Amino acid sequence: MIFVLGATGRIGRAVAALLAAPDPAPGGRDLVLVGRDSERLGEVAAGLPGPARTLVAADHAAAAREIRQARPAVVVNTLGGYAETAATIARACLPGGHYVDLANDIVALPRLLALHDEAVAAGSTLVTGAGFGVLATEALVVRLGQGRDTPAAVEVDALGSVALEAGALGSAYARTTVDVLATGGRRYRDGELGRERLARTVRHLSLPDGTSASSASMPVGELIAARLATQAPSVVATSGLAPTTPVARALLPAATALMGIAAVRRFTVRRLAGIPIKAAPRPRPHSWGHAVLRWADGSRAEGWLRTGDAMDFTAAVTAAVAARLAAGDGPAGAWTPARAFGAELATDAGAAFLPAALSPASR
Ligand SMILES: NC(=O)c1ccc[n+]([C@@H]2O[C@H](COP(=O)([O-])OP(=O)(O)OC[C@H]3O[C@@H](n4cnc5c(N)ncnc54)[C@H](OP(=O)(O)O)[C@@H]3O)[C@@H](O)[C@H]2O)c1
Repeated sequence: MIFVLGATGRIGRAVAALLAAPDPAPGGRDLVLVGRDSERLGEVAAGLPGPARTLVAADHAAAAREIRQARPAVVVNTLGGYAETAATIARACLPGGHYVDLANDIVALPRLLALHDEAVAAGSTLVTGAGFGVLATEALVVRLGQGRDTPAAVEVDALGSVALEAGALGSAYARTTVDVLATGGRRYRDGELGRERLARTVRHLSLPDGTSASSASMPVGELIAARLATQAPSVVATSGLAPTTPVARALLPAATALMGIAAVRRFTVRRLAGIPIKAAPRPRPHSWGHAVLRWADGSRAEGWLRTGDAMDFTAAVTAAVAARLAAGDGPAGAWTPARAFGAELATDAGAAFLPAALSPASR
């Protein structure tokens, strides 16, 4: 049995559709869509390519109670707000059940990874960061560093391109944005995760398809994942979502200070969540992960990961992890995706490595 929490959301619906496709395993996947509105859950279930049951749970605590009772083999958590809620849901899967989420911030990732020993003792696999955010750069870093000693410095850049659906911005995205502003900037220096100004580092990158994009440093999960994968003492992570213009960057320290006030944070989340979004195609044909590893002897390795819409890739990664977990293929413990399943998870989810020599099949 696989539970998909947040099944009425954008990623939840897409993951459910991938997991509901006919499965070669005897008995299929026994998919359960979990959400807080029975009517909308029914609509999602009716649109799937295969059967799925529905289950109403008002919030993450109710979902955790349902998990403890029903003991699904795998729980896919697309609820967002991971820093506060992911550990509760992941713990409800123990012992023996497996868990995957799409967290991508520097508070949520370490909290989930801190459950490693509990998960090992319980024979469970917990995977966090199973989306474009983390895997697109983590898979590259793992590939580029394979067979080499510890690099002195690692730079990773995540440049997602996403088509917009019409509707409100939504609470999950609003909470993530406000959390990033409240956290402020971070990077690894001399092996320590230290504070710095948000968007301090700006990159203007020429992409392999001839287009260009800008990104700036942000406290994203890629930072944690790149450090874990390489142990490099210096790590900087940038994102195409960060503001890169001088005016916007100049306003960020004030925004960080304001978001330190809980009431302002709650107000901002409510206002942002309701902002209407017009449907729009993705701005660039490709989403890109980019990584540069530098060694003390002056050598360097650089690579790119190319995929289409970053949201589609995210859903494909989450579904691929859930399928592996359902098949019992995960190592016990708490992991980021490429450390659990290798860099080939990214190619299985539809991405390509550039240069092609990085690709698992051609090594
Ligand atoms: N790592 C990555 O690359 C990546 C990529 C995309 C998304 N994400 C993250 O994945 C999460 C989901 O994204 P999304 O675009 O699918 O968001 P979304 O469309 O807003 O969907 C969120 C889902 O969770 C439900 N939900 C939210 N808060 C809840 C709560 N307190 N209790 C119960 N249900 C709750 C919503 O229910 P209702 O439908 O009832 O509102 C909805 O079904 C977000 O945190 C996002 O930041 C990560």
